[in-house]
Amino acid sequence: MVVQLRPIALNDAPKVQALQTSSIGQLMFPISKQEIHDLLAGGQGCIIGAWLGEALIAFLAITLPDLGENNLGHDAGLPQHQLSGLAQWTAVVVHPDYRGKGLQVVLLHYSLHQLDWPQVRRWLATVRCDNEFSLRNFRAVGARVVKTIRKYDGHLRFLLLLELPTRSG
Ligand SMILES: CC(C)(COP(=O)(O)OP(=O)(O)OC[C@H]1O[C@@H](n2cnc3c(N)ncnc32)[C@H](O)[C@@H]1OP(=O)(O)O)[C@@H](O)C(=O)NCCC(=O)NCCS
Repeated sequence: MVVQLRPIALNDAPKVQALQTSSIGQLMFPISKQEIHDLLAGGQGCIIGAWLGEALIAFLAITLPDLGENNLGHDAGLPQHQLSGLAQWTAVVVHPDYRGKGLQVVLLHYSLHQLDWPQVRRWLATVRCDNEFSLRNFRAVGARVVKTIRKYDGHLRFLLLLELPTRSG
């Protein structure tokens, strides 16, 4: 299969919504229609899609949070000056027919290496403690558990942090 990765455009919002609705399962807190719109509209992040032709088979949503309560840096106990250089992996869904091919890791790698966001020094995410599939994939790209917290729907979640190496030169 030839899978293409690219940021999703605003007019493909219904495809993101449809994939989330059909494939989210029990272990992810969904992103809202409004959040999908805002991410696709630009400025607050983006959503990277994995495409087979015109079919969206997976997506990874990324938020660039402001300094308010949605900034997971507060939960991680980061100092104030580090709250502005953050990106958050907010949602990731792979269609069940295409699971087991490492697409979450592929999308995570894309977010780390293909987005031109030099201001981002740290990546954060939360994963339900019982979501072993997703946890393994976040760890595979170097994220580590910094805390266990109850968040969103009250389930216990691992808070994950990936600090990028300091740039030299
Ligand atoms: C988490 C998720 C994105 C991982 O998808 P993926 O990248 O295709 O998973 P992997 O390639 O790492 O799969 C590794 C193995 O786990 C299995 N697996 C992955 N997700 C699974 C799931 N939800 N249920 C059962 N088995 C699953 C795969 O089939 C594969 O098995 P194999 O090695 O025997 O072939 C996907 O399960 C998903 O979309 N889940 C629903 C939404 C969700 O929970 N997102 C995470 C929010 S933090």
